[in-house]
Amino acid sequence: MTATRCWCVLCAVLGLLIAWLVLFGAAPVTLAQPTTAPVSFINDVAPILKENCYACHDAKKKKGKFEMTTYENIRKGGTKDDPIVPGKAKESLLIDVLTAVGPGRMPPKEAGDPLPKEKIAVIARWIDEGAKLDAGIDPKADLLRELRIRWKPPQPHAAYKYPWNINALVFTPDSKKLVVGGYHELTIWDAATGKLEKRVFTRAERTYGMVFLPDGKLAVAGGRPGQEGDVRIYNLAGGKPMLHGGVPAIDGVNDRSVLVAELVQTDDAMLAIAISPDGKKLASAGTDRLLRVWDLATGKLEHAIENHADWVFGLAFSPDGKHLVTGSRDKTAKVWDLAAKESALTFPDHQNAVYAVAITSDGKIGISCGEDNQIRQWQATDANKQIGKQTRVLGTHSKAVLRMAHLPDPKNPLLATCSADGTVKLFNPIAGTTLKTLTGHTDWVYAVAISPDGQWVAGGAWNGEVRVWKVADGKEVVSFNASPGYVPPAAKAAKK
Ligand code: HEC
Repeated sequence: MTATRCWCVLCAVLGLLIAWLVLFGAAPVTLAQPTTAPVSFINDVAPILKENCYACHDAKKKKGKFEMTTYENIRKGGTKDDPIVPGKAKESLLIDVLTAVGPGRMPPKEAGDPLPKEKIAVIARWIDEGAKLDAGIDPKADLLRELRIRWKPPQPHAAYKYPWNINALVFTPDSKKLVVGGYHELTIWDAATGKLEKRVFTRAERTYGMVFLPDGKLAVAGGRPGQEGDVRIYNLAGGKPMLHGGVPAIDGVNDRSVLVAELVQTDDAMLAIAISPDGKKLASAGTDRLLRVWDLATGKLEHAIENHADWVFGLAFSPDGKHLVTGSRDKTAKVWDLAAKESALTFPDHQNAVYAVAITSDGKIGISCGEDNQIRQWQATDANKQIGKQTRVLGTHSKAVLRMAHLPDPKNPLLATCSADGTVKLFNPIAGTTLKTLTGHTDWVYAVAISPDGQWVAGGAWNGEVRVWKVADGKEVVSFNASPGYVPPAAKAAKK
């Protein structure tokens, strides 16, 4: 994986020196004075502002009427006009507030420590050098977006020193393999033997949701928490495999035969993804609260729905594809009518965060689970009342119920739940029966998947472990740690 451009300070300095040589001829240059390179606003100053100021001065929370996410708005200032006097850091309000000792210091005392001196010095030098915006950036450009574009993902570790939390896993359409979300990668395992077969590099640091499309490509929701979120589509059979940590790997960051589509990029993680039963629409949701629905044939965004007051964790289409069921940190599950473009129903009984949702194959009963340890069923079609009425508690865990997987086969419906209590449970959501409790995990089970053929169920845990069980008898098929190359301390000690 070769970065097409390098943004490190050293290269910037070298580049400037070369530019200077070109401009001024072969003037004597010593490499010993790299500090004379001008401070770059986007590379040096904006990251400091983003880290320390945007919590209160972004487009949503303009404290002091001061909005800092574009260069233009920074120069407009808030109640007190332009906080920068170009060339004169000492006369600039921006430096005043950073160095103030009493009230009025930024960030305010209650928000934490003052900025370190070195960071204030960078901003002061930038102002002394004229407070210029880098060439090629529009003063109106969203700086979060500009910073995101410049950010290059690291390669996944060849061998993991620490296990990586599993947030998502999915069986391949042939039910033979498992795709697991790793650190800046997806890893593909033989589900019967636990052998690592392929690694797929991703820009996203974490994967929160995956779904296979009818054409065999994989749609993935994920991101870097607090930094960026995305929905991307990968062709797992594409690309030229190279070896990474001794395993065939393909590049889903740069190779467009692997990364075949980017549907959305946002400022924080995307948490959920779902495909309509006819395979034509893809939906996603996450920390920005919007439910997005794309037409897969055209790639067109058809809906951007705001129906929750907080992060959306869970997402499912109704069997007829006309409704979306969602679950949110705002403590509700909801049903959205896509044609009428309105909220059809709210289920409020969890009274705590709702982490996952499903709907029975007849479209009548909504299923939701969450922080209250309950898996609840409710009337999803009671449109007159607008409030979903609970029909029964399908089951409970002893701790939060974090995810669900649903196989809406009308003859053999199967629902799997996973929990912070370390277990996976299987239910028949129509009959209302608990089928099995699957044990073995020693940590929060954060992800669960059912194989499309209904034979296997897999759980993925916070400590990186994957366990696969047979649905028929609940026996474990295999368990492995899905962090490539990771050797647990116990195994290391045994070798010595
Ligand atoms: C925890 C919230 C918070 C953070 C973080 C924060 N500010 Fe503020 N800022 C405020 C509030 C509140 C005001 C309004 C204070 C007032 O009017 O007395 C303000 C006002 C300002 C003003 C004056 C604007 C004007 O024209 O009135 C400047 C300049 C400023 N902040 C800069 C910064 C910078 C630079 C950072 C980051 C290093 C930062 N702030 C971080 C809350 C914050």
